[in-house]
This record gives sequence, C-alpha cells and structure tokens, in this order.
Amino acid sequence: MSLSNEEKAAFGILANLIGVWEGDKGLDVSPEKVGEEKSPYFETLTIEPVGDATNAGEQTLMVLTYKQIVSRISDGKVFHHQIGYWYWDKSNNDILYSLSIPRAVSVLARGRAQSKGNRHEFNVQASAHYKNYGIIESAFMTAKASTRGFEMDLALEGDTMQYTMKTKLHIYGRDFLHTDINTLTRKK
Ligand code: HEM
Repeated sequence: MSLSNEEKAAFGILANLIGVWEGDKGLDVSPEKVGEEKSPYFETLTIEPVGDATNAGEQTLMVLTYKQIVSRISDGKVFHHQIGYWYWDKSNNDILYSLSIPRAVSVLARGRAQSKGNRHEFNVQASAHYKNYGIIESAFMTAKASTRGFEMDLALEGDTMQYTMKTKLHIYGRDFLHTDINTLTRKK
C-alpha cells in the first residue's frame, strides 16, 4: 500500500485516507420496535488505492476502495459490514462516496472536501429524493425499513480519523435517525 509521493499527489485530498484504520470507541444508535438500542463497537477500516477511471473519454475519477468491518464490543460479533469507493473528480472538485451493506441497500453520496492546515474534512450526502446521489434498496426494505437519507462528516488529522454517519430511516411506522460515530487510528 506504499505509494510514491507522485502517485499520492494524483489522489489529491483522498490520499490522506489510505491506510488500515482501527478504533474501539464506536457508538451505534439503531432502531428497535419500541425505542432504540445503543451499541458500543470496534472496527477495522481498510482504504486502498484503485487508480484512475475514465468515463466517456472525458471524465477522470481518482478512486479508492474501502472495507469497513464493525463488531459489537459486548459479544465481539460483526454486526455491520460495508464496502464501497471514494472518488475525486478533479475537474469540479466533487467528492463521491459509495456504500453497500448486506441488507440489500446501496448509496451514492456526493459532497466536498477541504483542508485546513493538517486537518482534512469531508462531507457527503445522499437523499432518496435525489436522482443521482440517492439510495437503492430492495422492495422489502422500501416497504419495511427504508433508507431515506444519508450524511457523513469525516475529519482526518495525521493518523487520527473521526466520523459521524447519520442515516435517516423509516422503520416500524416512524422516522428514525440511525447514527454511528467512531475515532480511528491509522495502523499501517
Ligand atoms: C458503523 C455503522 C453501522 C452500524 C454499526 C449499524 C448497525 C445497525 C444495527 C445494530 C441495526 C439494528 C438491526 C436489528 O435490530 O436487527 C441497524 C439497522 C439498520 N441499518 Fe445500520 N448500522 C450502520 C450503518 C448503517 C448505514 C450506513 C446504513 C445505510 C445507509 C444502515 C442501514 C440500516 C437499516 C436500513 C437498518 C434497519 C434494519 C432493521 O433494523 O431491521 N446502517 N444497523
């Protein structure tokens, strides 16, 4: 996973994300039939370069791929598994973030990134109301546990990463804000 400085530069602000990250200060708030459940968690997030992708001969995206494996602290079992891509479109500075989770739900979120000295901040959003930056889910999930919106704020400083994910659900006949936060340290 070691890139030359030149290769790193090609990924722009995304280069700061590359690595194997671990954190055990996670907190998940998820829906129950009545009320909510709060689960402390630990995770490993592996982010690797893919390279560049050219679309229709005119768009060039720089692409990373990631895998996020999340386990409950109480029993050590994996209770969330997420894969996807980070994209940077240099021509308009768009950041895109995709995710798929094994509940038959996928998201493509769009947003921005900015650097303030050594701190790099990302914000991406998707909504079921957007044509392009939206949510695809199975018919079952639309009927019973629909994802209506997604937003993530992520900040990096050196080898420390913090994120907040907010997933708007409609489940058990009500709206529910499903949230996940963690602080990670780069191990490799
Ligand atoms: C660290 C991140 C996450 C963790 C640890 C997590 C964990 C959980 C847990 C424990 C539940 C309740 C499951 C149950 O009661 O059977 C849940 C429900 C759900 N999550 Fe997540 N989640 C995460 C992120 C996401 C994201 C990013 C999305 C989609 C964008 C998502 C979509 C859903 C949906 C649709 C449900 C409702 C299914 C149900 O409760 O039956 N989650 N999640």
